[in-house]
Amino acid sequence: MNEIKLSNRLNAVASYIPKGSSIADIGSDHAYLPCFCILNNIAVKAIAGEVVNGPYMSAKKQVEKCNLEDRIKVKLANGLFAIENEEVDCITISGMGGPLIADILENGKDKLHKVQRLILQPNVGGHAVRKWLFENGWKITNEEILEEESKVYEIIVADKGLDLENYSKSFDKKFYFGPHLIREQNEAFVKKWTSELISLNNALTNISKANPSPETEIKTKEISRKIKMIEEVLNNENT
Ligand SMILES: C[S@@+](CC[C@H](N)C(=O)[O-])C[C@H]1O[C@@H](n2cnc3c(N)ncnc32)[C@H](O)[C@@H]1O
Repeated sequence: MNEIKLSNRLNAVASYIPKGSSIADIGSDHAYLPCFCILNNIAVKAIAGEVVNGPYMSAKKQVEKCNLEDRIKVKLANGLFAIENEEVDCITISGMGGPLIADILENGKDKLHKVQRLILQPNVGGHAVRKWLFENGWKITNEEILEEESKVYEIIVADKGLDLENYSKSFDKKFYFGPHLIREQNEAFVKKWTSELISLNNALTNISKANPSPETEIKTKEISRKIKMIEEVLNNENT
């Protein structure tokens, strides 16, 4: 089998990989992304990293099926430790929560010095990823938000460099919504944040039914702050 059809989400991730890159796909699962990138001459070589044995075995099988063992190294390793001493210029991490992606980057910081681009696709909690990028000298150069099978996905592309422009004001909002996405506000963006608004309002109603305590007061304040922030963004106020 030498043809792979990616989901729109993974296709979008692949579209930001510079041609001719050496890539590492961390949390690769079935290794579709690295196989696709080699078969389509996007990447010249790849590492597919997996921390769990089952997905690691599926990645190995897929690479063998595509006859790409000489171009893709499948590694059973935690996060960026899959890179070892290899030279990699682009890393992709997709299909996980934002806090886990930020932890993987934080724990493998010393593997990043030769890396030029990070392509990150958090399923939730993009805020944690953007905060890590900002604090560690990575500039968000592109962002995408798309809907597939009723789920909304964000893709964050970051290149090495300080980000003084994207965060000149409204830090919290830009971490939360994305400096590029907040400007564009496409259909998927509006859908994601309208649905979040509904969940937060429901949570607020439920809390108001509970016995008042210092914890419920803190929660109410936090949720109300988020609701206000989302409403302001969707109404284009104070962004
Ligand atoms: C939901 S799958 C996503 C697979 C693929 N990247 C995609 O976007 O379709 C997440 C994968 O990340 C792996 N994973 C989670 N934490 C990891 C870590 N610290 N290091 C490497 N892989 C990890 C899981 O085992 C799982 O196979």
